[in-house]
Amino acid sequence: MRNYTNVKDLQNIKDALKDALDLKQNRYAYTHLGKNKTCLMIFFNSSLRTRLSTQKAAMNLGMHTMVLDVNQGAWKLETERGVIMDGDKPEHMLEAIPVMGQYCDIIGVRAFAQFENKADDYSEKILNQFIQYSGKPVFSMEAATGHPLQAFADLITIEEYKKKARPKVVLTWAPHPRALPQAVPNSFADFMNEADVEFVITHPRGYELEEKFVRGAIVEYDQNKAFEGADFIYAKNWAAYQDPNYGKILSTDRSWTVDAQKMDLTNKAYFMHCLPVRRNMIVTDEVIESEQSIVVPQAANREISAQVVIKRMLEGL
Ligand code: CP
Repeated sequence: MRNYTNVKDLQNIKDALKDALDLKQNRYAYTHLGKNKTCLMIFFNSSLRTRLSTQKAAMNLGMHTMVLDVNQGAWKLETERGVIMDGDKPEHMLEAIPVMGQYCDIIGVRAFAQFENKADDYSEKILNQFIQYSGKPVFSMEAATGHPLQAFADLITIEEYKKKARPKVVLTWAPHPRALPQAVPNSFADFMNEADVEFVITHPRGYELEEKFVRGAIVEYDQNKAFEGADFIYAKNWAAYQDPNYGKILSTDRSWTVDAQKMDLTNKAYFMHCLPVRRNMIVTDEVIESEQSIVVPQAANREISAQVVIKRMLEGL
């Protein structure tokens, strides 16, 4: 594998799932692959899980890891070509990226949507600059429109917990005080549309995701109806995608918060969230602390999804 930016890079998700479950049983079997190789992780945005799980995955494979927080300690980077650089950004991405590529063998990038320009966000401007100019294989650690390491971990978790061959999986919008990107719901939809599940998305009107991610999913605007018979509830907030409201908060309606009453409509569904989660906005304390909450094992699988991806990239060097 050269780059990892979406589900298609895994080629066959059944094979990827098998690799994941095998690696989980024996995560130190491939330390030879990463010997004398370096994984550089570039963060334009904060992280807890991605930062730790990806480093752990790379170390499991015998790699060295380096982490750069672009906005803390590195030079501020200009992204636009043709700009007269007389402001507060002393370095241009067009030099910085190939320089970063000199010091490593593979690069992970986290660069969220900025909600300033939808075309820039949805063309994955920053991630693609790393792919174009670093000279090294690049993987997404959450970019503007996708979080494929998270969605792969979500898929692994559903595979481990499902009690029937084709479970009903519901992605539900939930309220949040700040505008969040669509990366997690986009990638989750991308993966669920490839998986053997009944996939339903529920959200208030105005929060429709881009069609290329929704594809064949059922969109149900009545959250209670969507929850009926569900085996997995995946909660997430996102800001509006559709014009003219791109990046805006249209609702903070707390009747969409996932609570015990709503979970009672389900088939004893497991509760999932990518974390970090705002309690009593997205989900009540009662639900996230319940036996049905699998947010911690879900986060644990971030190590496994990253390890499958990095292993495949090392095999392609
Ligand atoms: N789920 C996730 O990506 O967590 P972090 O933002 O903490 O990395």
